[in-house]
Amino acid sequence: MPVSAPSETGCYVAPMALRPVLLFPDPRLKRLSTPVEQVTDALRELAADMIEVMYDEPGIGLAAPQVGEAIRMVVMDTEWSDDGNDRDARVMINPEILEREGSLVWTEGCLSVPDFQADVERAAQIAVRYTDLDGKEVVEECSELRAVCFQHEIDHLDGLLFVDRISRLKRNLYAKKRKKALKLEEEEGVAQGGPL
Ligand code: NI
Repeated sequence: MPVSAPSETGCYVAPMALRPVLLFPDPRLKRLSTPVEQVTDALRELAADMIEVMYDEPGIGLAAPQVGEAIRMVVMDTEWSDDGNDRDARVMINPEILEREGSLVWTEGCLSVPDFQADVERAAQIAVRYTDLDGKEVVEECSELRAVCFQHEIDHLDGLLFVDRISRLKRNLYAKKRKKALKLEEEEGVAQGGPL
């Protein structure tokens, strides 16, 4: 999920090659991700890469399939802000919702769904279980934004985007808009010799 308001940072330093975030309607976003069986160095590296991408976008959550890895791992930091050193990204391996209670409607966006937000109904409170990078099992209860973020990111692992949870009419309108934007991008890209 993206942070709610786009940040305006003054200067831009070219990043080391970050993993690109797959964008709707990339079919790889629709795959069912497989559980992680072992915490390896490669997995730790992927988690670190994902955290970098999340802060760079900027976002508060990112799921492995969004960077093309169909495995059940997400990174989240629902508290961070641009102005300080309060970053506290958590890595959740094989996250699983144990309990859901109540419902709420949240206006969601997604780093893989450019230029679109929509109201989505979610459970208001959840209990979620996951394994951290040290292999420790964690059970967490949460509500509001954090609960929404968990549900949104776990959906990614099941090949679902938040646009799959809105009306077909709204989804189709967005898909059309996106198609047009992609076509325009392509034409402009050709005209300008491609993006840098
Ligand atoms: Ni998302």
